[in-house]
Amino acid sequence: MASYPKSGRNNTGVVEDALNQAVAETVVATMMAQNFHWNVTGMAFGSLHQLFQTIYEDHFQAQDELAERVKAIGGFVDGRLAIIIERSTIKDADGTGSDREMVAEMAQAETVIASRMNEVAEKAEQNGDSLTQDLAVARGLVHEKFAWMLNSHLG
Ligand SMILES: [Fe+2]
Repeated sequence: MASYPKSGRNNTGVVEDALNQAVAETVVATMMAQNFHWNVTGMAFGSLHQLFQTIYEDHFQAQDELAERVKAIGGFVDGRLAIIIERSTIKDADGTGSDREMVAEMAQAETVIASRMNEVAEKAEQNGDSLTQDLAVARGLVHEKFAWMLNSHLG
């Protein structure tokens, strides 16, 4: 009987760990975007309210895809909020800033996650996991696009 490679056979913990870091930062950015969606004010309210919604809806789905990729390679996801918040290098915002401050803070978070996805992709490549690499590249492109869209408000 032919022997087929199992998904996750190369899981050394490196890719799993990088993915879990990406999950944590995506989760915190999801809540940041929703918090801004609720609290943003100013003459650009309508478009920013919508843009923040587009971001948190995207990120909510992405956190699930990333976490399920951890499972698919045989890893473990610690989904406790306290753990996720502790782990994330992106820290929550209180939602009392100006519209400009919110846009700048969200743009910074998107840039951090895009960079994280690049790191995940590199580690996946080094570990022969081109499927995780592909996921990370796809997510990185989305985060860089959001960073560009947000930064474009700031001139
Ligand atoms: Fe809403």
